[in-house]
Formats: sequence, C-alpha cells, structure tokens
Amino acid sequence: MNNLLRNTVVLLMLCNGVCQISSNRCKPGTPYSQRPFYMAGDVIIGGLFDIHIYYKTEAFYYSSPPHLQARKISMLLEDFYNFLSLVFAVDEINRNHQILPNVTLGYNVYDSYVDLFRAIQGAVRIYSGNKKQYPNYNCDNSSVLAAVIEGMPPSFSTQYANIFGMYKYPQVSFMSQDPLQSDKQQFPFFYRAIPSEKTLYAGIIALLKHFGWTWIGILYPDDDSCINSIKIVKQMIEESGGCVEFLKMIPSINDYSVERIAEINNTISQATSNVILVYGSKNSVYYLEQNVHINSIPGKIWVHTAESSFRMYNQANDTSVNGTLRFIMSKKEVPDYIKFIQDVNPNRFPTGRTFTTWWDELCENRCPFNVRRRNCTGVESGRPILYSHCNLRFTAMSYSVYNAVYAVAHALHEMYQATPLKERLLDPNKLQFQDLQGWKLNQYLKKVYFTNTMGDEIYFKDDEISIGYDIYNTVHLPNGTNIAEKVGTFNHSAPPGKQIKFDKPIVWENKFIKTSTPRSVCCESCRGGKRKSILKGKPVCCYDCLQCPEGQFSNQTDSEVCLKCPEDQWPNKQKTACIQKTVTFLSYEVPIGITLSFIAIFFSFMTTGVLGIFFKYQDTPIVKANNRELSYLLLISLIFSFLCCLIFVERPAQWTCFLRQAIFGITFAISVSSLLAKTLIVVVAFNATKPGKNLRKWIGVKIPKYIVLSCSTIQVLICVLWLIIAPPSSFYNAQSEVGKIIVECSEGSAMAFYTILGYLCILASISFVIAFLARKLPDTFNDAKLITFSMLVFFTVWIFFIPTYLSAKGTATVAVEVFAILASSSGLLGCIFAPKCYIILIKPEKNRKKQLLKKPL
Ligand SMILES: *[C@@H]1O[C@H](CO)[C@@H](O)[C@H](O)[C@H]1NC(C)=O
Ligand SMILES: *[C@@H]1O[C@H](CO)[C@@H](O)[C@H](O)[C@H]1NC(C)=O
Ligand SMILES: *[C@@H]1O[C@H](CO)[C@@H](O)[C@H](O)[C@H]1NC(C)=O
Ligand SMILES: *[C@@H]1O[C@H](CO)[C@@H](O)[C@H](O)[C@H]1NC(C)=O
Ligand SMILES: *[C@@H]1O[C@H](CO)[C@@H](O)[C@H](O)[C@H]1NC(C)=O
Ligand SMILES: *[C@@H]1O[C@H](CO)[C@@H](O)[C@H](O)[C@H]1NC(C)=O
Ligand SMILES: *[C@@H]1O[C@H](CO)[C@@H](O)[C@H](O)[C@H]1NC(C)=O
Ligand SMILES: *[C@@H]1O[C@H](CO)[C@@H](O)[C@H](O)[C@H]1NC(C)=O
Ligand SMILES: *[C@@H]1O[C@H](CO)[C@@H](O)[C@H](O)[C@H]1NC(C)=O
Repeated sequence: MNNLLRNTVVLLMLCNGVCQISSNRCKPGTPYSQRPFYMAGDVIIGGLFDIHIYYKTEAFYYSSPPHLQARKISMLLEDFYNFLSLVFAVDEINRNHQILPNVTLGYNVYDSYVDLFRAIQGAVRIYSGNKKQYPNYNCDNSSVLAAVIEGMPPSFSTQYANIFGMYKYPQVSFMSQDPLQSDKQQFPFFYRAIPSEKTLYAGIIALLKHFGWTWIGILYPDDDSCINSIKIVKQMIEESGGCVEFLKMIPSINDYSVERIAEINNTISQATSNVILVYGSKNSVYYLEQNVHINSIPGKIWVHTAESSFRMYNQANDTSVNGTLRFIMSKKEVPDYIKFIQDVNPNRFPTGRTFTTWWDELCENRCPFNVRRRNCTGVESGRPILYSHCNLRFTAMSYSVYNAVYAVAHALHEMYQATPLKERLLDPNKLQFQDLQGWKLNQYLKKVYFTNTMGDEIYFKDDEISIGYDIYNTVHLPNGTNIAEKVGTFNHSAPPGKQIKFDKPIVWENKFIKTSTPRSVCCESCRGGKRKSILKGKPVCCYDCLQCPEGQFSNQTDSEVCLKCPEDQWPNKQKTACIQKTVTFLSYEVPIGITLSFIAIFFSFMTTGVLGIFFKYQDTPIVKANNRELSYLLLISLIFSFLCCLIFVERPAQWTCFLRQAIFGITFAISVSSLLAKTLIVVVAFNATKPGKNLRKWIGVKIPKYIVLSCSTIQVLICVLWLIIAPPSSFYNAQSEVGKIIVECSEGSAMAFYTILGYLCILASISFVIAFLARKLPDTFNDAKLITFSMLVFFTVWIFFIPTYLSAKGTATVAVEVFAILASSSGLLGCIFAPKCYIILIKPEKNRKKQLLKKPL
C-alpha cells in the first residue's frame, strides 16, 4: 500500500516535470538509430548505467528550476567499461547459437548521470520505448523488454525498485550491495550480480579473525547506507570479540575543510589500533586520500571495502603503502573481452559524440579522428598519466555486467525452451506493460544456473550471485610502481573458518616485517598465570593482566578467571598449571628431626647410665635416701619420656598419634607423681621423727606407691576417655602451609590434650609447693630443694610451650612439643640426678652416713 502510494506520487511528480501527457499517444521521439546506447533486437535488455556525471558547479539553492544541461558534464572513464562489457556480452550471445537461437538480443541503455532524476527519466523511457516518456504505455512495437540491468548507487537502486517493481521486470544490479534489498518480500524482482554487503560484513569479520585483529578503527563516509552498514559491522566486530577504537565520519567530496582534515588526521595519528577499516565507495576513499594524506601516517594497515579507483593508479606519485588490503569482488578477465576493448573504436558508436572523449583520453588526443582505439603496445611508455588505462585490472564492474547479461540470456533461453512456439510469437498489439513477459522471466532467473566462459558457476542464491570476494594487497615497489596483487579469497559459501583463504604471503609495511603478522590489539593477551581484569569505562578489549592470587592458576591465554587448584595440588611457579603438593612431616630425614631424635637417644642413654650408677651404688646412703624405688621409677619413666620423642619424629599414623600423647602424658605423670611422693616422704619423714618411728616406716613403704599409682591411674583414665570419646588421628593438612601438605596428628579433642597437660601441671604445682615448704627441713639428702628447682624448670618449659605450640605451624608444632618434652625431662634429670651423681662419683667421702648426718646438702 505504502509502495503503491509512493509510486503514484513519484510518477505524478515525474509527469508534472517531464512527461507530456497528450491524447496523441506514442508520438515518435528520437529515432533509435540516433541513439548511441541502443541496439535493436527481438528481445531488448534495458540498462541504466552511469557513463557521465553531472557536476553541481553552482550553489545548492536555486531561485529558478535548475537546468540539467547547465551543469558540467564529465565522462566517467572507468565506468565506460561497464557499458562496453554489456555490448560485448550481447554480441557474444548473438553469435552463439547455443543460447537463444533465432532470437536477436538488443539493448537499450540510458545514461543515469549519477543522478536520480535522470535515472528515473531513463527508466520511464526504457519502459515506454520512446524518446518521450509515456508512463504505462509501450510505444515500441518492434521488440520486447526482458529485464533491466542497472549500475546505480544503492539508494537510487532501491528507489528504482520501489517505483518500477510494479512492472514486474527483473532488475539486475551490478552496483548496489545494500543488504536491505535482499528482502525478497519487498523486492521480489531484484537480483544482483555482485555479492551483497552482508557478504562483505562476513568477509571483514573473517579477515579480522584470521589475523587476530581485535582493535580496529573505522572511517566511513557521510552517507545513510554506510552509516547503517557501519552500525552492523561494529556490532559484528563486537560480537566476535573485537572492539572498535574509533568511528570517524569522513566528509563528502565537497566538505573537506582544514579543520575536518586536521581532525581526521589527528584521530588516525593518535589511534593505537594498527588496523583501520575504510568503509566506503572508491570515490570517498579517493577524496580521503587526496585530502588527508592517510597513507603518509605511518604504521597503519588499511582495509578497504572499495576497489581503488584507477585514477589513483594514474599518478606517478601514488602514496599507497604496502599491506593495504582490499575486498574486491572476484573478477576475471574474459580474454575475448580484452581483445574487444582493444579493438573497439568510436565507429562502433557513430552517434555517441561524447564517447570520443574516452578514446581521446586513451591516446591523449593524438589519435587521428575515427581511428581512435585503445593502443597498449608501446604507446603507453612515457605516458604515466593514463598508463594504467591499459592495465586491465581496472575495468570497473565489467565481469559483473558480463555475468548479468548472461544470466538474463540464459533465463530467456530457458523460458523460450519451455514456451510453445505459438505463444512465443510476439503479438505487437499486446506489447503493453501489463503483459507477463517480465514476470515470467523472473521465474526463470530465480533458477538460472550455468557455467560461464571463465568456468565460474553462476546462479543466484537468494538475490545474490554466487561470486565471492578476492582480497588484494598493494605492494609499493621502490621504483614507484604499485602492484595490486591478489593474496586471498573470501568464499561465503564455504564452511565457517574456511571462508577466508590466503594463497600468497602478504607483503606488509617495513615496520611490521619483523613480526610475521602485524598485530592490532588494545592490550597484549594475558598469558597463562594471569587473568584479564576489565578496565572500567574502557572497551572490553582493553584490560589489565593480573597475576593469579596464591593457590590459583590459569592455563589459558586471555582467561577471565583464575582457577583454584584441587586441595592436594598447588600452582607451579608460573601459575600455569597445578602440581602435586609435597607431603611433609617431621622425619629423620630433615635436620631438625635428626637433631631431636639424636638428643632424645643421647638423653635416654644418659638416663640409663644414671640408672646404672644408682644400681651399682644402691646401698650407699645417697641412693637409699628418700626411697630408692622412687628414684628407679623416676629414671625409668624419664627414659620412656625421652624415647617417646622418637614416636613424634615419624610420619604420623593412626596409632602413633594416640600413642605419642598417651605415652608422653603417662610417663610424665609417673615422673611428676614420683617427685611428689619423694617430697611427701621428706615432709612426712621430718614430722615422723617426732612422734614415733612406726609412722615413718609405714609411710616410707606404702604411701609413695599409692601416690604414684593413683596419680598415674588418673592420667591413664584421662587417656582412655580421650581414646574413647575423640581419639586423635593423623590427617593431611593442606591449608596451613603454602604449597605443602603436612601430615599431622589432629588432637581429636584439644580439651583432652590440655587436660593432660593441665593435670601434669597440677601435679607439678603440688610438688612444687610442698617441696618449696620442705626445702629447709633438715634431713639427710633433702631432695626438696632439687625438686623445687626442677619443678621451676618444668613450669618454665611448659609455660613457654603453650604459646609457642599454638603459634607454630606444620611440622614446627611437633618439633616444639618434642623440644618441650626433651627440655623438661632433661631438666628433671639434670636438677635431680646430676648433684647426686656428682657426689657418688666425684665426692664419695660425702656419701657416708656420718657425713650425711652432719649437715644437709
Ligand atoms: C529459426 O528460424 C528459422 C526460420 O524462421 C526456422 O526455420 C528455424 O527452425 C528456427 N530455429 C529454431 C531453433 O527455432
Ligand atoms: C508498430 O506500430 C506502428 C504505428 O503504431 C505501425 O505503423 C507499425 O507497422 C508497427 N510495427 C509492427 C512491426 O507491427
Ligand atoms: C597529520 O598529523 C601529523 C602529526 O600529527 C603531521 O605531521 C601531518 O602533517 C598532518 N597531516 C595533515 C595532512 O594534516
Ligand atoms: C606528484 O609529485 C609532483 C612533485 O613531487 C607534484 O608536483 C604533483 O602535483 C604530484 N601529483 C599528484 C597527483 O599529487
Ligand atoms: C600503437 O601505437 C604505436 C605508436 O603510435 C604504433 O606503432 C602501433 O602500430 C599501434 N598499434 C596498434 C595496434 O594500433
Ligand atoms: C618497477 O619495478 C618493477 C619490478 O622490478 C618493474 O616491473 C616495473 O616496470 C618498474 N617500473 C618502473 C616505472 O620502472
Ligand atoms: C566456495 O565454497 C563452496 C563450498 O565449499 C564451494 O562449493 C565453491 O566451489 C567455493 N567457491 C569458490 C569460488 O571457491
Ligand atoms: C613494500 O614492499 C616492497 C616489496 O617487498 C619493498 O621493496 C618496499 O620497501 C616496501 N615498502 C615499504 C614502505 O615498506
Ligand atoms: C586447563 O586446566 C583445566 C582444569 O585443570 C583443564 O580441564 C584443561 O584441559 C586445561 N587446559 C589446557 C589448555 O591445558
């Protein structure tokens, strides 16, 4: 509905301006014979080509309707090849009896002057078949229109489709890549002989991915279609993990000012991205290069979506840099076409006066009139300006036009093959627009499939031709020559990842030669052992690389998180992998383990030695004093406490964990309780001397045994309870020390452990107090003093033990405990038995009853 309305409005406007509505329809206009772009035929291919351009030389404001002819006209030298290609293809098809036998193909082309008004005017003339426009009437009864091939810019092409779509003739564009036109609902008669922009987007993304370029700058012209496209490209870049550093609009041809130039120059110079995408037509790129000398900005890789204009290659001082990559629709040079454009001369178009400029340009006006031709044999040397005119790379969209003409011809062929001869006969009176020839052809064009002379398979997929992109690189030789060499291809039909293929090494600018492939990233990727940390307010491609925290690792580049190692593992130095933690425990292999066990053995031998001395001198007073048996018991328990240290210095096992604490607790309980008993003996002995000797005897024999027995039994009971309620056990402690697993004994119940210690301390306190009180009692060999002193040592050791024990980590806790046991045991040994041994061995004269009675020790 909307379309219909728009069409009507446009046609009315058109008629108001240019058509002469008259009752006398089909007044003859200019005879076809006088038209340069016309060739008669049974079936005509319509064409709208830009061959000339109108320059708007004056103001943009008009006080009177502007007169088209008042503007300057210039020939588009390169685009003329498009027209020549159509002429060539039609000739070739007419000569070929395999395609459309008995049917002569003709063409009727209008020059659209890069102007929408002229394009629409031309289109109306194509449909009405006359110099004068009669919308909805066909005044040409000599031939029938098949399709229209057009080379208009996307916006014009869309307009054309909107207006003339109602005639249902196929429209084959060789210029418009506008992805919006791919909508088959809206544009059912639209085809294109070039890839759509969607393919280009995919190509750009594939290229960026191929080289790992994630940090891109984009320049795009001030043009609706490009602005739309750039939005999509930006989104696609971001979706594929890249970032756009800047998006800079470049002015249209007439709008370059000093400020804009400086602005664009600054944007590019200050950009950190090495890769800059220039998304625009070859004209906009040409003017960009002319005004902002972008190629002199060092260290950039340019990616162009437009073919370079041959104009640029005409200049001896072309500034292109190596490594300028261009997406160019796959082109092939048809050998016969090359011969054709070399041989064709103005005589072929006798009425086309303006065309002669083309040949004049070719040979710089030096060709004799009417024998102008393209002469590329020797003439070009010494003619740098149009040297490249003989360079066959720059024949515009010739190959697309060629394929478009062939596609239409093949579709026509199929249609005629399928139509009975009777129906095929053309009835001149029925050749109105409403006839269904065009509509019918559309059905065949959809299905057209053929292999062209260059071996390319041609068909339309959706609306798009089955031809991909080639990627060209510019190589700037030291002698000033530029070579555009094909380095790779982009095939949209290939499976993802294989779409882009480079079959030649790319010559980069010298700056990048050191690295095999230039890079363009905001930040170098984070190697293993680090993680990305996104910077606030910056694109996602810009980040910091942070070292993984303790205990974590990352084994992938650009990892966003660091992973935790399993419990029993630990990251290696670089934090790129987890390695097994080393299992440690206090053992005979480490110095501290050796030292401690050596000391323990040494002291146990010493204690055994003391025990031996006491046995040998068992009948001397000093040994007999204060209960000989208690002394033996004390010494034996000390031997055991020394030896129990050896259980600590080993890999903890279930049973040793319990055994070590139990033996320690019980032997110490025996030691301390025998000291307590000894002290009591001293006290009781003193008191007993007064009332009666019986008491002393009784006490001397029975009480000490009971004391030792009961005190030790309590400790044994505590140990048994501990074992029953919460037995200690060995376990692997992976937390307490970095990178190590410590085999430890868990106490099972800390309370039990401290109860044992506390109980020992209570016993020790009692003996200390009593011994302190009894230290001055006159007795033979009064042990009280020694016991007081040894208890002080004992306390000191165990009081220091607790904080040290709590703060120690890993194997040190065990070492601390062993040390405390050794210190306190050797303290007892030293304080109590050293003076006695001294007397026994060195001063035997003191070890006599008389002497003893004289004065206490
Ligand atoms: C071509 O036309 C001639 C004469 O009009 C006819 O005899 C011949 O059969 C036609 N050939 C084909 C292939 O239609
Ligand atoms: C075409 O139409 C003109 C006038 O409208 C007529 O004179 C001429 O004979 C017709 N030509 C053909 C081939 O029918
Ligand atoms: C672009 O900027 C650079 C330095 O920033 C300067 O040397 C150069 O002349 C500028 N070019 C133009 C065309 O302004
Ligand atoms: C090429 O360089 C010469 C001198 O270096 C200069 O005069 C001429 O204008 C340049 N041509 C173009 C097209 O820039
Ligand atoms: C091309 O030009 C050269 C020099 O003007 C001339 O000798 C030669 O014959 C010409 N070749 C052709 C094919 O016209
Ligand atoms: C420049 O060098 C290339 C290759 O060395 C050569 O093909 C080309 O003809 C040279 N161009 C000029 C203008 O000397
Ligand atoms: C593109 O890829 C498709 C699918 O792999 C393949 O059939 C086709 O031949 C390729 N086209 C070109 C030009 O390589
Ligand atoms: C471009 O590449 C050519 C060929 O490898 C080399 O000779 C030339 O020095 C390069 N130019 C620059 C500016 O890197
Ligand atoms: C990285 O580590 C994870 C977890 O250990 C593992 O699954 C993955 O295979 C590793 N990847 C590489 C590339 O080593």
